[in-house]
Amino acid sequence: MIGDLQQLEISALTELEKATNEDQAQAVRTKYLGRKGRLTGLLRNIAQVPDAEKPLFGKRCNEVKDTLSAKIDEVLFQQSLRKKSDGLLKEKIDVTIPGRSVKFGRIHPVIQIRREICAIFASFGFSIVEGPEVELDYYNFEALNIPKDHPARDMQDTFYIEENIVLRTHTSPVQVRIMEKIQPPVRILSPGRVYRRDSDVSHTPMFHQIEGLLVDKGVSFADLKGILTAFLKKIFGMDTTLRFRPSFFPFTEPSAEVDIRCVICGGSGCRVCGQSGWLEILGSGMVDPAVFRNVGYDSEEYTGFAFGLGLERIAMLKYGVSDIRLFFENDIRFLKQF
Ligand code: FA5
Ligand code: MG
Repeated sequence: MIGDLQQLEISALTELEKATNEDQAQAVRTKYLGRKGRLTGLLRNIAQVPDAEKPLFGKRCNEVKDTLSAKIDEVLFQQSLRKKSDGLLKEKIDVTIPGRSVKFGRIHPVIQIRREICAIFASFGFSIVEGPEVELDYYNFEALNIPKDHPARDMQDTFYIEENIVLRTHTSPVQVRIMEKIQPPVRILSPGRVYRRDSDVSHTPMFHQIEGLLVDKGVSFADLKGILTAFLKKIFGMDTTLRFRPSFFPFTEPSAEVDIRCVICGGSGCRVCGQSGWLEILGSGMVDPAVFRNVGYDSEEYTGFAFGLGLERIAMLKYGVSDIRLFFENDIRFLKQF
């Protein structure tokens, strides 16, 4: 019987060596180790083994069973590895196919203009500061010489949060906040979002302004004209024609609005400039002594000028955009042109 066992082991291992796929390896397992397999058959006949040999025979049977079953597992494992690497070898990589390009975002046109303007004024020695968008009525109006029932409030249709808290209607409150904090000389630029109840082709409820303020001894209207002219020529080109037109703001005296020659019609008159040949760019003026009084500056010693411009307006003129609302519709076809 022990001899049979040896024969059985040899023939099983030989068959296993010849097995070239999973099925054949599994067939060897069934043939020898299965319920009706040859090794199982031998064990079943253990009664015919002389008693003295029984323990040895049983031990050998178990050894053969373990050896075979380990061997079969190993063969199956090797076969599955081979299958995988065959698959990998068949896979073709075409290194000549162009890669997928990464789509880059870009800076929003209004922010591009903001950066450009900030850089120009930084080169004039202005520092950039910011103020809150949710603002006290005091800073947005009162301190700027616009009392509660003053008709000048009608020019800026206001969103109120509470009775004394508003969404700021312009960046001018930053003037007051800065002057409360520091003593002259002051030379600041303050960009930011502002809000008004406004909506048409040239007005949106949220838009951007940039505020400028310069205070020192002996500042005159000539300085205001000089700085603003230099700035506008830098941004619109040296041959741009400007005009300073008398205007009114409660917080500046005298006040002026600055127009540039219409970039669309060149001055002959069109729809965009309302047939006037000119386009308003900004409001400006010499800081009113009443504002200096509110922040504790001595208006006998110091003078200054301030200005405020609409960023979307400038972007529209510079890029020839005829509807302001395009800036805020998030249409990539529009935005990717800048
Ligand atoms: C002011 O807001 C003043 N604070 C400007 C100022 C500052 C004057 C400092 C003197 C000294 P005004 O309301 O005109 O002024 O607005 C300034 C600019 O904001 C306008 O010229 C226009 O370009 C832009 N603007 C006003 N309303 C809107 C709106 N709803 N949508 C888009 N742009 C607007
Ligand atoms: Mg105006």
